Amino acid sequence: MNDPNGMVYHNGTYHLFFQHNPDSTVWGPMHWGHATSQDLLHWEEQPIALFPDSLGTIFSGSAVVDKDNTAGFGNNALVAIFTHHNHTLAQNQAGLPQYQSLAYSTDEGKTWAKYEGNPVLPNPGIRDFRDPKVMWHEESEKWVMTLATKQSITFYGSPNLKEWTKLSEFGEGIGAHGGVWECPDLISFDDQGKKIWVLIVNLNPGAPNGGSGGQYFVGDFDGTTFRPFDTDTRWLDFGRDNYAGVTWSNTGNRRIFIGWMNNWEYANVVPTETWRGATTLPRELGIEKINGKWYLASQPVPELSAITSSLQKLPSVDGGESLSLKATAGNLPETYRLDLTYPADHTFEVTLKNDANEQITFGYAATERRFFIDRTLAGNHAFSEKFASKDSAPRIGDQPEIRVSLWVDVASIEVFADDGLTAMTEIFFPSRVYDDIVLQGQSGAMFTDVHLSRISPTTN
Ligand code: FRU
Repeated sequence: MNDPNGMVYHNGTYHLFFQHNPDSTVWGPMHWGHATSQDLLHWEEQPIALFPDSLGTIFSGSAVVDKDNTAGFGNNALVAIFTHHNHTLAQNQAGLPQYQSLAYSTDEGKTWAKYEGNPVLPNPGIRDFRDPKVMWHEESEKWVMTLATKQSITFYGSPNLKEWTKLSEFGEGIGAHGGVWECPDLISFDDQGKKIWVLIVNLNPGAPNGGSGGQYFVGDFDGTTFRPFDTDTRWLDFGRDNYAGVTWSNTGNRRIFIGWMNNWEYANVVPTETWRGATTLPRELGIEKINGKWYLASQPVPELSAITSSLQKLPSVDGGESLSLKATAGNLPETYRLDLTYPADHTFEVTLKNDANEQITFGYAATERRFFIDRTLAGNHAFSEKFASKDSAPRIGDQPEIRVSLWVDVASIEVFADDGLTAMTEIFFPSRVYDDIVLQGQSGAMFTDVHLSRISPTTN
């Protein structure tokens, strides 16, 4: 898989579609794979939802519940809005291979029909013209499509999902432009009755630590134009491996995000066998104001508490001690969560280790106010010279103590610092599971509230 697509919540089921090539473990003719879940944790793979057709293969897009039957496919029909990518047109340098199309389902997503009037948004002359994210804009009572158009975002409006009118463009002179803009999302949050809008824009390459990444802007959206409050470029995640992430539609006030845990710099060559590519943990997004500016804060969804069980709590550990959790708690489980707090004016490191001398370190450098992940010694990196790296992230939080939680799986780490104001997600390929964690800080500065929990796997 690559991008998550068409995430929509409907009648108690979370639908997750995804960019999928059923015939290979590398990118190829794209389909929409499909998985469903009742709790965002246990997923069941469903038959492929969308297959390539005469208009092209099925690139990324979104899905909505059409409650009032604006499109005429039926009350509460699920409607997918996606990019058709025409490989024949793509072979011509001057070709315009991408346009937007619809498919719908009236049986809870089990079967899908393509709309016979496809494409609904023909290509206006922009080669990169893709990844529609559609939402219902209540105030202006219309559908709004946020579309990636080369290195900008174009907003379109529609009463019925079939006829689209251009509203405005965003992106000139603002944001990161090291690569093409892809997979955008426009979401709102409530701040005391006022809406704060966040525009997520994935781009590839051009992320702060190289390759693919997700930037975002905070501002106002009036149904036509997005106006950012400032010109800062903010990043959803500073790790190398959280790309193409967007949020579920139809989840009320919740903003639930999931990303693809990979990077186009090496996505097609990571050393896996029967499958390649996975999602991040589902994350709930919120906003927080720091020094007068709004930021996104990401946290793993609270549903995860149902599969989390406490293993060890250490109220206080001197940073100078170099504490091995294997020594105090025994071998670690394969999937776990570690929480800790440390004073922000001191440097610390959390190193995951195995007995093959492989390790990955997450840490904080107090003088630079930066977090980092060092995976240069994390195991196999021979498959790509871009893979071994030491990556860093600024601290955005401003509290005197740093709280971090690290969510570790056999081949990934997801770090949330300061309640998720800074997030870092990275994958790794050790020859053996990391079964020890070593905490190392500075003498006299205490790690507090150190808490190790087991996360029970939800698949075999
Ligand atoms: C992002 C992306 C999208 C495109 C899809 C194709 O990873 O390049 O822009 O729709 O992947 O698989």
